[in-house]
Amino acid sequence: MKRITLALTALGLAGLTGFAQAAPEGDAARGAEVANLCVACHKADGSGMNMDAGESWPRLAGLNATYFAKQLHDIKNGTRVSATMTPFVNMLDDQKIADVAAYYSQLEPTEGQGGEGIDEATRKRGEQLAERGDWSQYIVSCKSCHGPGNRGAGTVFPGIAGQHAGYIEAQLKAWKDGTRKNDPQDLMGSIARRMSDEDIHAVAMWLANQNAGSK
Ligand code: HEC
Ligand code: HEC
Repeated sequence: MKRITLALTALGLAGLTGFAQAAPEGDAARGAEVANLCVACHKADGSGMNMDAGESWPRLAGLNATYFAKQLHDIKNGTRVSATMTPFVNMLDDQKIADVAAYYSQLEPTEGQGGEGIDEATRKRGEQLAERGDWSQYIVSCKSCHGPGNRGAGTVFPGIAGQHAGYIEAQLKAWKDGTRKNDPQDLMGSIARRMSDEDIHAVAMWLANQNAGSK
C-alpha cells in the first residue's frame, strides 16, 4: 500500500513538471557514445569528484534516468543554473538526453567522497536530520521523501546516499539562496531555507558516508 501511494505521489509530481509525458525512450548503448562528452568531469565510471571548496562534479552512476533527464532539461531552460554544464547540455537534443540518462542510470553506483574524518557530533546531527528530521525546526527527515536509506524513490526523489559531500552541500545552499529552483512545489527550497549552514554541512557529510545501494 505504501509503495502504491509513493508511486502515485511520484506520478502526480512528474505530471506537474509537465515533462514525463514528452520524453523519448532512451537507449543506453547510444548513450555511451554521448557520455564521451562528459567523462572529463564525471569520469568513465560515473563517479565524478568531490571538491570541498569550488565546484564538485556529482556522481552520475546509478541515478534514476527520469530524474537525470529532467536535470538536463532544467539546466537548458534555466530553472537550474550551472555555467559549467550549460555548454554541454546545449549540444544535446531530447533524444541524446534520454540516451545518456539511460546509460548512466544502469552504471553501478560508486562511493561518496568528502565525508572522511567526520567527527562524532557532526555524524550524530547528520544522521538525525537524514533519518528522523528535527521537528523543533520543522525539518522533515530526508528519507521521508528520498526513500529508505536515502537511496531514492521513484522518478522524482533522487538517491542522495553516497553522493559527494561538497556537491550535496552546494545544492542545499543553492536552494537556500534561490539559484536552484527546479524542485516541484518548492519541496527542497522550503527545507533548505530552514537549515543552518552547520546543519547543511552535517547532513552532507553523513550522506556521503552512506551506501548508495547497487543496481
Ligand atoms: C566541465 C565539467 C563537466 C562536464 C564536461 C559535464 N558536466 Fe555534468 N556537471 C558538472 C557540474 C559542476 C555539475 C554540478 C552543477 C551544479 O552545481 O548544479 C554537473 C551536474 C550534472 C548533472 C546533475 C546531477 C544531479 O545529481 O542532479 C547531470 C545529470 C550531469 N551533470 C550530466 C552531464 C552529462 C550528461 C554530461 C555530458 C554530456 C556532462 N554532465 C558534462 C560538470 C560537468
Ligand atoms: C518533501 C520531500 C523532500 C524532503 C523531505 C527532502 N527532499 Fe531533497 N529533494 C526532493 C525532490 C523532489 C528533489 C528533486 C528536485 C529536482 O527535481 O531537481 C530533491 C533533491 C535533492 C537533492 C539534489 C540531488 C542531486 O542529485 O542533485 C539533494 C542534495 C537533496 N534533495 C537533499 C535533501 C536533504 C539533505 C534532505 C533532508 C534534510 C532532503 N533532501 C529532504 C524532495 C525532498
